[in-house]
Amino acid sequence: MPVLTVQPSGQQVDAATGDSILATLKENKIKINNDCGGEGECGSCHIFVTEGRKTISKLQREENAMLDTLVGVGLKSRLACQAEIGEEDLTIELLSFI
Ligand code: FES
Repeated sequence: MPVLTVQPSGQQVDAATGDSILATLKENKIKINNDCGGEGECGSCHIFVTEGRKTISKLQREENAMLDTLVGVGLKSRLACQAEIGEEDLTIELLSFI
């Protein structure tokens, strides 16, 4: 079972392959903005995936288009609601707090 490490707190939670990062955070009561409820339409769940980027689902065109509208996007950027957890551990950095 992969482990999701959440920065800046350093909290670690068990994750399930195929679940979105957003769903995993919500299941573990870790606060993250998700204004559209995980539909990939708002960009508020923007995170950096700092470790394990190769294990998560590939960036799709719609997600990439949404990221293009946001400020502060970099190579590590993903939308937590669109990125699905793979087989290996990963580390993310939350960029906004509720
Ligand atoms: S929750 Fe709106 S884009 Fe992810």
